Amino acid sequence: MDKILIHGGHPLSGSIKVSGSKNSSLPILAATLLTREPCIVHRVPDLSDTHYMLQILIHLGGQVERASGTVSVTAEKIESIAPYDVVRKMRASVCVLGPLLGRCKEATVSMPGGCVIGDRPIDLHLKGFEALGAAVRVEGGNIKVFAPKLCGAVINLRGKFGPTVLGTDNVMMAAVLAEGTTVVEGAAQEPEVVDLADFLNKMGAKIEGAGTRRLIIEGVKELHGAEHDIIPDRIEAGTFLVAGAICGKGITIKRVTPEHVKAVTNALGNCGFRLEATGDSISVSPNGETKPLELVTEPYPGFPTDMQAQMCALLSTTDGISVITENIFPQRYMHVAELKRMGAHVDLEGPTAVIQGVDHLFGAPVMASDLRASAALVLAGLKADGVTEVSRVYHIDRGYEHLDEKLSELGAHIERVKG
Ligand code: EPZ
Repeated sequence: MDKILIHGGHPLSGSIKVSGSKNSSLPILAATLLTREPCIVHRVPDLSDTHYMLQILIHLGGQVERASGTVSVTAEKIESIAPYDVVRKMRASVCVLGPLLGRCKEATVSMPGGCVIGDRPIDLHLKGFEALGAAVRVEGGNIKVFAPKLCGAVINLRGKFGPTVLGTDNVMMAAVLAEGTTVVEGAAQEPEVVDLADFLNKMGAKIEGAGTRRLIIEGVKELHGAEHDIIPDRIEAGTFLVAGAICGKGITIKRVTPEHVKAVTNALGNCGFRLEATGDSISVSPNGETKPLELVTEPYPGFPTDMQAQMCALLSTTDGISVITENIFPQRYMHVAELKRMGAHVDLEGPTAVIQGVDHLFGAPVMASDLRASAALVLAGLKADGVTEVSRVYHIDRGYEHLDEKLSELGAHIERVKG
């Protein structure tokens, strides 16, 4: 397994380009199953997660071609069974359920495993499918859904932790080919959900209200092929903004949608950094004293849970006491134990992390656990005195396109050791 070594204390400067969004690419690639015609998707990031999704599409019978960031998929004849050995590698594979149910009126997909950020139920996905007229069975570790026909319905998708992103995606992808109109209340508003709705509408779907809590989907008979550019990855963008804050003289990220990272730029501004957005670029630079923060993760447009670990790393070296409350995945603190090995002072009280900023972090061997926790350890390593060795970096490769190379372009002393 590869490791990443970071020699801390080297200030970052310069600019990098943000890749296409992982969390937009996965459901949009799944949506290509909804038509027998060719679809072309540009700016698909080169990640193990997108690689897994293409493997699943091929397994289901899709013809897939990839030329750098452009992927073409033709799903002329497809199977409706996605087996365990492919699905288990990536929880987000669950988002093939909706398109398979929409297109084939049946689907069998292995139950997604849990993961280190906590329980990952899909009860809301299944509630939505049942509301559309599907029978749902769980047997032998598989979810089986079947519907003689799908009928539009009024569905409330809000769960006790708020809306579900992939649940909204899945229900939308089943409802676009249902008979009649579906109203989804409590829908997720994330930009990636809007990007999927835009792609589906290009395919001939009739979806209104994407980006609000209420979707209205008028079912159509069939969908046709379409071409689409994936939106920039707002979480990669946020991660680099935090990198610039934690040890930058001033960096600029390009090809970003400033609106999508507002909660992060607001938080960094409140922390005392200077943020400047011009067109599709955002710069972050020091601006004197930094201040501790009280941060709460919320569904979009609130502060994203996928940026919580990265902010934990920054606030660990910000004078004063900061408090983070994780409302989406209350156990999403795998990074804390590793940050403490580097000298951070963080106390966990249920979903809340109380962070006492320290003057220095110290390089140490640390272990990546989930995608965003791993990124947080790299960011802490940029700041720490000495060398930080992050192992199990396959977690990083799942969701960041060439993170170490991009940080190196900004002046970080970082190297990947093949293991
Ligand atoms: C998506 O996961 C993202 N993944 C996650 O990003 C992100 O953290 C999450 O949304 C929240 O923004 C992709 O888009 C591929 P949810 P998703 O359903 O859709 C509960 C990353 O690092 N819930 O919005 O699976 C759930 O337990 C990843 O890129 C139910 O209770 O998350 C959680 O507490 C990590 N029942 C909350 O809702 C359900 O049926 C939000 O989960 C579904 C979810």
